[in-house]
Amino acid sequence: MRDLFLSTVLHPTFLGLATRYPLADGRITRRHYLDSAASTLALSCARAVADELLHHYANTHSELHFSARIASHAYDWAHGQVLKFVQANPCRHAAFFAGSGCTAHLNRLARFLALRRPERGVVLVSLMEHHANDLPHRKHTGRVLHIPLTGAAPTLGAVDLAALERLLEQHVSQVNYIAISAASNVTGIVNPVHDIAELAHAHGAWVVVDASQYLAHAPLRLSDTGAPERELDAVVFSGHKLYAPGSPGVAVVRRTLLEGSDPDELGGGMVDDVSLSSYQITSRFPDREEAGTPNIIGAVQLGAALNVLQRIGMTRIHAAEQALLRRLLAELSAIPGVRIYGDPDPDRTPRLGVVSFNLVGLEHGLVAAVLNDYHNVAVRNGCFCAHPYVRELLKPELWALDIDPDAENAVALLKPWQGMVRASLGLYTTEDDIAALLAGIRDLLIRPDYYRPLYQPDAAGNFHHRAFRIPAEALFDAEAALDRLLAPSNLGDDTL
Ligand SMILES: Cc1ncc(COP(=O)(O)O)c(C=O)c1O
Repeated sequence: MRDLFLSTVLHPTFLGLATRYPLADGRITRRHYLDSAASTLALSCARAVADELLHHYANTHSELHFSARIASHAYDWAHGQVLKFVQANPCRHAAFFAGSGCTAHLNRLARFLALRRPERGVVLVSLMEHHANDLPHRKHTGRVLHIPLTGAAPTLGAVDLAALERLLEQHVSQVNYIAISAASNVTGIVNPVHDIAELAHAHGAWVVVDASQYLAHAPLRLSDTGAPERELDAVVFSGHKLYAPGSPGVAVVRRTLLEGSDPDELGGGMVDDVSLSSYQITSRFPDREEAGTPNIIGAVQLGAALNVLQRIGMTRIHAAEQALLRRLLAELSAIPGVRIYGDPDPDRTPRLGVVSFNLVGLEHGLVAAVLNDYHNVAVRNGCFCAHPYVRELLKPELWALDIDPDAENAVALLKPWQGMVRASLGLYTTEDDIAALLAGIRDLLIRPDYYRPLYQPDAAGNFHHRAFRIPAEALFDAEAALDRLLAPSNLGDDTL
């Protein structure tokens, strides 16, 4: 994708594209990073903006000295970038930062919304949710029901709108909100979140959208048409999936959802006055939702990353990724022995740059290990914190395994087969990265009997090379990096 247009548009670069590792066959090659669904690499100019701010670093919540004024202004700017990114109206919506990803916000929203309407004790979540958008609702709500998906395993599609409507009608006046991902972290399949919002609102329910896997890949507006009934009530996402590692999680929420109730967390920076017997919470957003000292540097880094993405244009980013994704899907589908999960036809079921697959007869742990050790292709394997969805997609295969589920060792026997390999794309992914993945898969399928004896599986389903072991600290050692930086020849102007 980088080759296609980035170099001709803005020249943004990312930290870690040239990283090289030694491989099991003795070669030293460039890493092919295909794990962007977990975390994206850092956009270097956004990191540079944050580093520049560090020269002015001070806490926010003050306008008095120069540095506090600069920090407060930059932090406000970061909020503004978030609102712009999803085309929110700053008079009607508030953006706020918390935690290190969207998990913190989903927990807060689950607690808060349960208290807001205790008489509505049902929450609907889809079958494809990441645990972060399922377990918090289970913990804080009377009852969570899972909305089924269209199609059948292994090629399930998006949320089944007819089934959703039936659930809303069966539980009339009981559904507090629907929590739904804009795109799956397992298959990249996109849910029609604005149609879901319209259905939810027609039944008096709110809609909370987990856009963590969506926003780096395609444009998302709070309301696609501008109609209020299609507007999302809350959107959450993780900055580390948007080219800003170290940044906080983000929520954009309709102000009226929050007004009139106490914020979920209390502390400094969000009160107008406190006496020994009472306190008065400020009505100002986002202050009232951000108790304590915020992650100023991380938020500004994220604001800068969002700004760059907007300069490039999310429509353009989406189009370029789709071209690469279609090539990956077509080439993978053409390899005998590759099984792709989720409807693989992007015209029928839109999806973003995430593809999960298995190689027939080969454990996902073995595939991921060989891709790493012999091809320097970084993919993720397992259930990707979406156990119910992955199990549903794998159901026909798991049934065919002929393992007695009641047998004492059933869990251990099932473990190596209960998972997938996931390749995920980012703005920096190139044809070369895709080619390396495909070459690795073809190589493994041609000579599985060569590779298998080289590995030892463990009880968790991970495969370890019997001879090739490089400890992480041999590749990166924080203390050695410090030694280097503190060497007299490297000390610059900021020397103590
Ligand atoms: C769809 C989805 N939701 C939620 C999360 C949780 O994000 P975080 O760990 O950044 O809080 C993830 C992380 O992979 C995700 O992919």
